[in-house]
Parts: sequence; structure tokens; C-alpha cells
Amino acid sequence: MTQGNPVARRTAVVGAVAVAGVVAGCARYGAESAPAPAGDKAAEETGLVLGKAKEVPVGGGQVFRDAKIVVTQPVAGEFKGFSAVCTHQGCVVAEVKAGTINCDCHGSKFKLDGTVSTGPATKPLPARDVTVSAAGDLTTGKAPATEPPTEPPATTEPPVEAPTQPPVEAPPPAGLASTADIPVGGGKVFENEQVVITQPAAGEFKCFSAVCTHQGCVVAEVKAGTINCGCHGSKFGLDGSVSKGPATTPLPARAVKVSGNQISLA
Ligand code: FES
Ligand code: FES
Repeated sequence: MTQGNPVARRTAVVGAVAVAGVVAGCARYGAESAPAPAGDKAAEETGLVLGKAKEVPVGGGQVFRDAKIVVTQPVAGEFKGFSAVCTHQGCVVAEVKAGTINCDCHGSKFKLDGTVSTGPATKPLPARDVTVSAAGDLTTGKAPATEPPTEPPATTEPPVEAPTQPPVEAPPPAGLASTADIPVGGGKVFENEQVVITQPAAGEFKCFSAVCTHQGCVVAEVKAGTINCGCHGSKFGLDGSVSKGPATTPLPARAVKVSGNQISLA
């Protein structure tokens, strides 16, 4: 089985990583699993509507490819969420079938609790928070607190005027790399951020998603003038275009900012 509904809605709330359920019988799970890898953006978003809980069969699961999340239902009413990024080499797992979450790239299989059932993967799929709403929607993130907000205690004191302070400027984001890190005619892969930065000509910096458009591995390196994926041999030019298949679509561009000698994601 592969993904059902596309992601319908996003919010900007950033949340923690664990698993929760709001309907009766939903259990917290996966707390002992490995933490989310840095840079896995889908893991950091909450409020993403994945689809309907009823699409997830009991004793099986469903891969939500866009969100890179797989949701399983080991027993009726107990939903578990995991990163769908295979811990072997980063492919997005293909399906949940015959009781396991299966990665097509090199045959790894994971049980419905995210643990490895068959290698070459050796690490479990990291757990993700997944909530089932009263309407039956599967949403990323923890269930919202149900307690009513506490009223501030009544006071007879006159309200104290808050001192007016000039707004504090947010510090600029730390640079991802120095321009000197990126060779002219080459580039560098930033695995945690899942981006690759290239410098096709001196002073011209380009940035792309490092997630291979073939089957979702993170590209391995920039070498001999191309961005190379180790999974099935796809190569991309320094402008992100496909130079060798099996990938057929270019790497999506990412905005990048160069200030002085610092490169940061815009
Ligand atoms: S088995 Fe999943 S990436 Fe290799
Ligand atoms: S995932 Fe197949 S070549 Fe990159």
C-alpha cells in the first residue's frame, strides 16, 4: 500500500517527537525509539493532516509519502506514527504489507512498532507524534491540551503598565557554511539540513534539496561535477538538473543567502 490522501493543510506549529492519540484506546508509544534525525522537516511540523484514520488497516499501516510519515495500527484503535525515511540509506519506505513496513531500495523491513525486522537497516524508524481527531483525521503532532485555560486571579491592584521596550531584533540565523567550503565547479552535501550547495561558477552559489527525486535517498556527494546519489546511481548537474537516471526530475531549488563569506538558508 502506498500513500492515500495528499497533505491537505499545514500549520507553522513546531512540535516534539513522540507518539500520542486522543481517541479512547490510543496509546502513547515509541518513546524509547531513536530521536528524529536533524533536518527532517516533516518530523518537526505539527497539525499536518495526513488522511483519515480509517485508511490505516488494523494489523497494517499506511505510508504518507508527502509528509514522509508512516502510520500503523498494530491493534484496533492504537495508532503509531514513524518517520517513513528508511534508516538504512534514506529512501522513503514503499508500503506496509504482510505486517511489515517495507523499503524497496535494499529490502529493509520494519515491524509495526518501527523496529527492524529485516536488514540491511539496523536502526528502528524514529517515532512521530500522530493524533486522531474527533472527526477521524490523522494529524501530526500531539493532542492539544483539553484543560480550560486558567483565569488569572482577581486583583484590586491597578494594572501595572508594562515598560515600553524597543523590540529585540532576532539574531540572524547561523550560517550553514562558509563560501570557502564550497569548491568552484563542485559543491557540498549538508546531510542534516538535507540540502546540497553548489558553486557552478566563482561566486555563484546554488542550493537544492538533497533528497533524490528517484526514491528519496539523501544524495551522497558532489564529485566530478555532478551531485551523485549512492542508492541507484542518479546524477544531477550543479544546476540540479538530471544528468543521469534513474531519476527523471531535477532536484528542487532551495533559496540561499550569501552574506559576506557566510551562506545560510533563506
Ligand atoms: S533498505 Fe531502505 S534505504 Fe536501503
Ligand atoms: S534514490 Fe534511486 S538513485 Fe537516488
